[in-house]
Amino acid sequence: MSERTLPPGVIGLHALPSDHHDGPWDSMIVPAGTKERLLGTALLVLRQGRLLSGLSGAPHGLIMLAGPPGTGKTTLAQGLAQAAARKMAPRGATTLVEVDPHAFPSDMLGESQRAVSRLFLDTLPEIAARRPHTVVVIDEVEALAVRRSSASFETNPVDVHRATDAVLSGLDQLRAQCPNLVLVATTNFIDAVDEAVLSRADLVMNTTLPDEDVIEQIVASSLTELAEQWTGLMPLAQDADLRAELAKGLRGLDGRRVRKAILGALTVRTEVALDPNRLTADDLRRATQLDYLG
Ligand SMILES: Nc1ncnc2c1ncn2[C@@H]1O[C@H](COP(=O)(O)OP(=O)(O)OP(=O)(O)O)[C@@H](O)[C@H]1O
Ligand SMILES: [Mg+2]
Repeated sequence: MSERTLPPGVIGLHALPSDHHDGPWDSMIVPAGTKERLLGTALLVLRQGRLLSGLSGAPHGLIMLAGPPGTGKTTLAQGLAQAAARKMAPRGATTLVEVDPHAFPSDMLGESQRAVSRLFLDTLPEIAARRPHTVVVIDEVEALAVRRSSASFETNPVDVHRATDAVLSGLDQLRAQCPNLVLVATTNFIDAVDEAVLSRADLVMNTTLPDEDVIEQIVASSLTELAEQWTGLMPLAQDADLRAELAKGLRGLDGRRVRKAILGALTVRTEVALDPNRLTADDLRRATQLDYLG
């Protein structure tokens, strides 16, 4: 398997650490201790997984990030891979594997079950054998590990249940085969994820909508990023009163929409779109008024 031809169910393979994967982790503004705990959970398994595998409560190497859309789950999952890879770099490189949870068809009986088993029992161990460390990101895991207790047999094909069974046995066998592999799964719908899969998570972390203080920091981060490209924006990026005012208007939005609102200020006037150095505080005020954002 070369990194150019991706195996079934895999949508990305990256060798880490890599400079162009820096950034997202640092750009995430989360409660104190959040990144440390995520990194600690990943590093314990990457570094000590083999030794811990003999314990009765051995880790599954599974981290679950759950929360509303736009609260940074995917960014944290991918950023965690890079942050962990940086720490592990003295002992060798890390592969980041991105799994496509929608790649497992359920229209043919038994097909998705077989595909899921192949992923956990063949594909992932094969990839993991290539570099000393491996972090697998499964975005939107509820598509793969459907909660069996609420998936009715009438509306969901038997195959859905079988696929979840395959995820469970896949997780157990993967843990036995690759005790230092880390899986980071994300979901918008924690209630749709199978309980037995959740029970195997070493850490379930909830991402939440940002409060006004966090919004203000996201505004600052977004403006600073823009000012790195267009230095004329530096005074706006450094204006603390303006940031606080904008944050008030953005209350209730998720982090993604906060960043989009700031970017949207470049589109309020066409001359600003053509030359972002012309952005004014009023453009920002207009773009961050909620009636404007819909
Ligand atoms: N707390 C935050 N601090 C800084 N940036 C944030 C925060 N929350 C979200 N963002 C920004 O919002 C954007 C979207 O984040 P991301 O795609 O990771 O969200 P998500 O939770 O995976 O959403 P979805 O459930 O829709 O997939 C990113 O650019 C990210 O930087
Ligand atoms: Mg996401």
